[in-house]
Amino acid sequence: MRIIFLGPPGAGKGTQAKLICKKYNLPQISPGDILRQAKKENTPLGRQAQSYMDQGLLVPDDVILGIVSERIRRPDCEAGYVLDGFPRTIAQANALEDMLQELNLGIDFVLLLELSEAELVKRLSGRRVCETCGEEFHIKYKPPHTPGICDRCGENLIQRSDANVEAVKKRFIEYREKTSPLVYYYEKRNKLRHISGDGNIQEIFTRVQQALKAG
Ligand code: AP5
Repeated sequence: MRIIFLGPPGAGKGTQAKLICKKYNLPQISPGDILRQAKKENTPLGRQAQSYMDQGLLVPDDVILGIVSERIRRPDCEAGYVLDGFPRTIAQANALEDMLQELNLGIDFVLLLELSEAELVKRLSGRRVCETCGEEFHIKYKPPHTPGICDRCGENLIQRSDANVEAVKKRFIEYREKTSPLVYYYEKRNKLRHISGDGNIQEIFTRVQQALKAG
């Protein structure tokens, strides 16, 4: 099964992608996570991506396509995968279609998580991540047992560098201008399923599974 999670920043793409991957034993491919790891390791890729990410701008298509094209050709992707945060531009979607055609494959579902901007802002501003193991929390919706401390490894929780007001504004603008045209793109291909992102994580996971079962 090959699934794309589409939706604005903070809609819950990463959270739901993780749950689906666990349930169906699929790899999760998140360019955002790959780039954050590269930043942490201070690799050339991380240094190249840093200023775009910190400002809330999309990283150039050629960089992202290099990452995804290499990743989906690995053996663990043979039975499928979940793309979380890719594609994000029409050029990326076209390139993905070409890559899949080459492999004689197609996308099965594009799941669009929809949520009001006010709720998105609450989710983004309350998110905390472990600077060591990357585990994610939310101060209100998924609080750690001890405030500021990771439940998994005991290290400090921090805010992401793109969580400040200016970067969040930019991320919304980038989404509206460059990513939202993908809604029509996948609607035309009859792949898109609209899913309300409102409610708790388990409620949304139930909707996601229903959408996959409905075909
Ligand atoms: P990326 O990491 O993909 O960021 P994003 O799309 O802005 O997504 P988020 O991780 O902020 O939100 P999400 O929808 O995954 O929500 P989440 O589940 O985390 O990308 C970061 C940057 O990398 C981009 O700005 C860009 O620079 C670059 N990049 C990445 N991909 C790219 C591409 N294809 N092209 C170009 N550049 C690219 O949830 C958010 C919070 O809400 C969490 O705290 C979570 O615990 C909480 N939460 C989740 N669900 C619920 C719920 N149901 N109820 C309450 N709280 C919830």
